Amino acid sequence: MTPLVLALPGNDALAAALAEGTGGEVGGLALRAFPDGETHVRIDTAVADRDVVLACTLQAPDARTIPLLLAAATARDLGAARVGLVAPYLAYLRQDTRFAPGEGVTARYYPRILATSVEWVITVDPHLHRLRSLAEVYPVPAVAVAAAPAIARWVADAVPDGVVVGPDVESAQWAGEVARRAGRPVVVLKKERLGDRSVRLTLPDDGPWRGGTPVVVDDIVSTAGTMAAVVRRLREAGSPPPVCVAVHTVLDDGADAVRAAGAARLVTCNTIPHPTNAIDIHPALAAAVRDILAR
Ligand code: R5P
Repeated sequence: MTPLVLALPGNDALAAALAEGTGGEVGGLALRAFPDGETHVRIDTAVADRDVVLACTLQAPDARTIPLLLAAATARDLGAARVGLVAPYLAYLRQDTRFAPGEGVTARYYPRILATSVEWVITVDPHLHRLRSLAEVYPVPAVAVAAAPAIARWVADAVPDGVVVGPDVESAQWAGEVARRAGRPVVVLKKERLGDRSVRLTLPDDGPWRGGTPVVVDDIVSTAGTMAAVVRRLREAGSPPPVCVAVHTVLDDGADAVRAAGAARLVTCNTIPHPTNAIDIHPALAAAVRDILAR
């Protein structure tokens, strides 16, 4: 039977792309709040014996998680063959260790909560720093789709004299791969985090960043403290206005901060709907769904 794709609120474009790319159908999922704040769930399309694909990106995850779990439970209760989740942005991966006594390591707990209700998960470039792979924390199959091929195509087209800049060692995995695929040089800075919104960066005095338009590549723009600091540092050192590329942008005003710092523009992948979305990652997600359903 053809897969049934259900869109959680705000995920209609993703659901349509997944249905198109898998030969599936977008089904009806109606969610509404009862007066007491609980969620009412209704699936309006036949579910029995079908693969159900829930489309739900997970920025600001706390409010999205309960409706998602309830929709998954409803699909299973109605006889779905398997229920999986496509979450282009996967939350709760940054608290991957106990940085201070008494803290919870939520990167280990949240996956267990999702895995109570879905049998597989597909995401895009999860924030893996101290974790080497999603398999370390996800008890169900969890696939990470790489944005680098799509970003590299965009860079090669839009910024042919680009010099890829990674803000910190964590970004080296994305920046290096984008540079290699786009056939452009790369430089990775050193970053010291001073607080939630403040970082200190070290830029080499010289290096390939002087030879073209800097293209700053990072996985997440959250407060935009990191991206804006890189832009300011490059501009102080005499670079042309950098182009900034992030896989995910999780806060609405982050883009304004990047522009205010002196960037030429900020572009993002469409893992989270945002006016800066310019790089389409949905076809790669649909391909990953086809693969997992064929297993
Ligand atoms: C950090 O390790 C990440 O790769 C990003 O650099 C970070 O999450 C960006 O956060 P913000 O925009 O708040 O500086």
